[in-house]
Amino acid sequence: MTALLEVEDLSVSFPLQRGLFRRGARLRAVDGVSFEVAAGEILGLVGESGSGKSTTGRALMRLVEPDSGAVRLRGTELTALGGRELRRHRRHIQMVFQDPYSSLDPSMVVAESVGEPLEVHEGLRGKVRDERVRDLLVRVGLSPRHLERYPYEFSGGQRQRLAIARALAVDPDVVICDEAVSALDVSTQNQIINLLEELRAELGTSYLFISHDLSVVRQLAQRVAVMYLGRLVEEGPSQRLYAHPAHPYTEALLSAVPVPNPGVQRRRERIVLPGDPPDPTDPPGGCTFHPRCPYAMDVCRSVVPEPTPVDGGGTVRCHLHTSGPVLAGGSVLELRAAESGAATDTGS
Ligand SMILES: Nc1ncnc2c1ncn2[C@@H]1O[C@H](COP(=O)(O)OP(=O)(O)OP(=O)(O)O)[C@@H](O)[C@H]1O
Ligand SMILES: [Mg+2]
Repeated sequence: MTALLEVEDLSVSFPLQRGLFRRGARLRAVDGVSFEVAAGEILGLVGESGSGKSTTGRALMRLVEPDSGAVRLRGTELTALGGRELRRHRRHIQMVFQDPYSSLDPSMVVAESVGEPLEVHEGLRGKVRDERVRDLLVRVGLSPRHLERYPYEFSGGQRQRLAIARALAVDPDVVICDEAVSALDVSTQNQIINLLEELRAELGTSYLFISHDLSVVRQLAQRVAVMYLGRLVEEGPSQRLYAHPAHPYTEALLSAVPVPNPGVQRRRERIVLPGDPPDPTDPPGGCTFHPRCPYAMDVCRSVVPEPTPVDGGGTVRCHLHTSGPVLAGGSVLELRAAESGAATDTGS
């Protein structure tokens, strides 16, 4: 895989203003996140509310400043750019939000709002700009006659098509979709998902598709990354991840996804995670998932697991998959196999 976008060890924190004694304390919204997106690939980014998905997306756009880490687009280090150079590079990464009004100014007609990036980055105006906007409207499945309309004159799904048209206006390398279909009803969701897939195939654009909805991500993404409390706990090809989740958190998330086939649904046990997500301002030590993990071991409470390759592709950060110095006897899975083997021996 040739990576178009490389994110390496990205960390973002926010100052905590609450409380006298916590002055100077910071909330680590994104904590050492690394991933790559190939050209023409859709990477899904999933996780519970507050896990740091949006902050990751915003840091890629430099809408929030990362504390540390690197973001490279076609090899250019974006975190090092400033001023004019940063503005020039911004066009290569665009964002589509859940609320289309975050991308579309309600007081601007379509020609202006969809055409704005063309003015800013390519200096196009008047008829030339409008012609390009018409092409974009057609590309996203809208009528080219809508140039003089305001966003409120469109349905929710159409407004999202406008937001996509604006994002695609300057032919970006990567489009970050942050919960872009979450506010839409299921059939409109499907239409937008199909549109994104068509655009990906047609234009070769890459997408970082952020969503809390794993069934939506499954329809679109070739690879998926799972975040928990600011850390990326698992990533890998969709097929492997959905069929054989390696992290107990991924397993739990997936068990909550409705399965279309009723037979499968009945057979599948739903895992209910014990406890609420921990306080992000005071995360647990070791693996931050350990207080809610049904498989938690002693090592999980004190040692942060490192990314470990998974059979079938991708990596996982979980001590069930590591064999470190802490577990002198070998991996936990081997230990468990040995134990259950021993139990069978005694029984026979
Ligand atoms: N501007 C900010 N100032 C302070 N804290 C913030 C800010 N933005 C996000 N956070 C905190 O950072 C953490 C991650 O938030 P983020 O919005 O990235 O999560 P998310 O995964 O996108 O959640 P959701 O699914 O609800 O959109 C949360 O604890 C959040 O409260
Ligand atoms: Mg978010």
